[in-house]
Amino acid sequence: MKRIGLLTSGGDCQGLNTALRGVAKALYEAEPDIELIGFRDGYRGLIDEDFLVMKPVDFTGILTIGGTILGTSRQPFKTMNQPVDPTNPDEPTRLERMLQTYRKMKIDGLVILGGNGTHNTAQLLSENGVNVVTLPKTIDNDLVGTEMTFGFQSAVNIATTVIDCIHTTATSHGRVFIIELMGHKAGWLTLHAGIAGGADVILIPELPYDLGMIADALDKRSREHKRFSIIAVAEGAMSIEETAMNKKEFQKIRSSWKYPSVAYKLAHDLSERVGAEIRVTVPGHFQRGGQPSPFDRVLATAFGTAAAELVLKNKYGYMVGWKKHEVVPVPLADVAGKLKQVPADDLMVRSALALGVSFGREMT
Ligand code: F6P
Repeated sequence: MKRIGLLTSGGDCQGLNTALRGVAKALYEAEPDIELIGFRDGYRGLIDEDFLVMKPVDFTGILTIGGTILGTSRQPFKTMNQPVDPTNPDEPTRLERMLQTYRKMKIDGLVILGGNGTHNTAQLLSENGVNVVTLPKTIDNDLVGTEMTFGFQSAVNIATTVIDCIHTTATSHGRVFIIELMGHKAGWLTLHAGIAGGADVILIPELPYDLGMIADALDKRSREHKRFSIIAVAEGAMSIEETAMNKKEFQKIRSSWKYPSVAYKLAHDLSERVGAEIRVTVPGHFQRGGQPSPFDRVLATAFGTAAAELVLKNKYGYMVGWKKHEVVPVPLADVAGKLKQVPADDLMVRSALALGVSFGREMT
C-alpha cells in the first residue's frame, strides 16, 4: 500500500482545495487502498510531524471552496538549514526534521502545492532523497516552467472587479485613482487586471517608472477632456532612480518613507504635479480570497490529476507545468530559485501600448 503525503505551503490562493481534490480523487480511483496523509500548515506540519490521516470523504465538497483544508504557513527557505530552535544549535535542523518525519512515517512520496519559496524547499528535499511532485500555485504567476499558475486568473478576476467599481466613482468625481495590486516582484497580475479593467497607466516592477512621464500621461488625458484616470500599480513597482540604487540604498530610501506602500507615495508625489484630486485603493489580500474562478478550477484539476499520474508512475522530482494547453512534467531543478517576470516585449505589454496605455516611461 502506498502512503502519500500532501501539503500546501506559502501564501494561499484560490484553487488549492480544487487541486487537492484532483490529486486525491485520481489517486483513490486508481488505487483505492492508497493512504493519503495531510500535513498541517505546509512544511510546518512536516517539521513538527503534525498530520491528519485523510479519507476520501475529506476531498468531497471542496471543489469551489477558497483557502486550503490543510492550512498553510510561510517557512522561509533560508531557515531550512537552521535548528528549529535557533538558540539551540545542537537541535536538528528543519530540513533534518522533515527528513526524519518522511522516513519515520514511511512516506512513499510527497505532493507539494506551492509558489517560489516552496519550490526552493521542494528541490532541497528532492536533493536529499525525498520523492516529490509539486503543483504551481500563486496569484503572482511568477513560477518558471509553467505559462500559468492556478490562483492567478481568480485574482485577475477580483482585481478587475475592483478596477471596474473604481471606474464608476472615478468618473462621477473626475478623479485620478491609484489602485495597488499584489504580485510581489512580478507584474503579471497588475498587467492583466490593468488591461481587463481598462487602466490608463500600468506600473509594474519589470518596467521602472518615471514620475514625470506618469504626470504627462495624466495631463494628456485632461487635455483630451477625459474626466478620470486609473493607474494600476503593482505593489513591487519602483522608479527608475530606485532601480539604479544598490540594495542598501534602496532599503534606506524605502524605510524613510512615511507612506505604507508605493500607491500612497505615488499619490503624494503626483499631487504636487497634477491638478486632479487623487485617491488610493489597495484591495490587498482580498485578491487571494474566495472561490476559484471556473478557469482555475479547470487548471487546478488538470494539474492535480497530472500530479497523481506522476505519483502512480513513481516519477518524482517534477513540477507539473502548463504549456500550450498540455500539462507537462518540468524538472524541479529547472524551477527552483528562478523568477518568471514580465518581459518588456510581452504580448500584453505590446497590446496595452497599442491602446495608448502608459507604462510611465519611454517604451521602445
Ligand atoms: O505570493 C503571493 C502574495 O499574495 C504576493 O502577491 C504578496 O506580495 C504576498 O503574497 C503577501 O504575503 P503575505 O500573505 O504573507 O502577507
